[in-house]
Amino acid sequence: MVDLQSQYQQIKETVDTSIQEVLNSSAYINGPLVKEFQQDLEEYLGVKHVIPCANGTDALQIAMMGLGLEQGDEVITADFTFAATVEVIALLKLTPVLVDVEEDTFNIDIDALKKAITPKTKAIVPVHLFGQVANMDAILEIAKEYNLFVIEDNAQAIGADYTFKDGSQKKAGTIGNVGTTSFFPSKNLGCYGDGGAIFTNDDELAHTIRGIVNHGMYTRYYHDVVGVNSRLDSVQAAVLKAKLPKLDSYCDARRNAARFYNKAFANNSNIITPTIKSNKTENCNSICDVCDCHVYHQYTLQITNGKRDELHKHLLAEGIPNAIYYPVALHSQKAYQDKRYNEEDFPVTNSLIKTVISLPMHTELDKEQLTFITETIINFLN
Ligand SMILES: Cc1ncc(COP(=O)(O)O)c(C=O)c1O
Repeated sequence: MVDLQSQYQQIKETVDTSIQEVLNSSAYINGPLVKEFQQDLEEYLGVKHVIPCANGTDALQIAMMGLGLEQGDEVITADFTFAATVEVIALLKLTPVLVDVEEDTFNIDIDALKKAITPKTKAIVPVHLFGQVANMDAILEIAKEYNLFVIEDNAQAIGADYTFKDGSQKKAGTIGNVGTTSFFPSKNLGCYGDGGAIFTNDDELAHTIRGIVNHGMYTRYYHDVVGVNSRLDSVQAAVLKAKLPKLDSYCDARRNAARFYNKAFANNSNIITPTIKSNKTENCNSICDVCDCHVYHQYTLQITNGKRDELHKHLLAEGIPNAIYYPVALHSQKAYQDKRYNEEDFPVTNSLIKTVISLPMHTELDKEQLTFITETIINFLN
């Protein structure tokens, strides 16, 4: 699905030099490169505070701790996402409230979100799934009306731009009260181990979170709040510092691959290609040059003729990696079942789990590979 080795070969010198700097300094924890990367990322995102941490799951948990959410508070998120999002809500003894997603963008459905609000609702966690930013105009409006926190799970969309209805733009993850990301190796900005970060423009929240990531300490050995140990180590920061300047070109490479796929699959009645929804273009239907709201963490098709599972096996047999993200709706997972959920409330997720398939998507895909992948799929489905 990804080709991290070829990507590394392209940037080997810069990455090796950056890692060597850490080895020379022996400052493996909280070394100068962690601070340097933090500042570079703040500048790139146009956000006041980046707080690095150990992974994207911790980032979500720490953001919720920082906002002071308490047992019993309801937190609304999408039913169609990776489990980390709902896992941390449950771990903190908050109440996860899963809602359905839009069938075209796979992002949280705004009507379903509105319906799920109760007097106990305290926060919304939009997930910018597969690299496309959720409808943040609507989410911010709802959050304002009901006085809710917005925590953006931006693990899959770092680098994406969101264009508001008024034409202004912000980077994904910097729009809500707080945003979180993951630097897992296969992510669009990935390190060579685990890593994550939290973003906010709120000075007080940033201060609180800086203490939480460090055992609740604001002064050494004085623990004012219950915290965790969640650090981005210096070697990972070194890799990320070397890779950050490449992020925009990486996003472009992914969009180019997506364009190739889109064109190849256009007019195929068995395939629905990813839909782009942007205020910039009023639903530009995937083939356009301005889809900066989508950074294609995944390129995900819907196969409409019932042959998704056969296609999955056929591609594997042909040596083409592919994956089903996600095969089970979160509300159906054993760990997250809840008597309050009705199957009728999740028609889209229940359908997507049967139709979606994600194709290889990374920065090193070449025309020959893309041609082989698309021709194999089209021949199989015809
Ligand atoms: C949407 C989403 N949220 C959170 C995470 C968790 O990130 P990490 O694996 O770094 O803990 C992931 C990772 O895949 C993710 O896709």
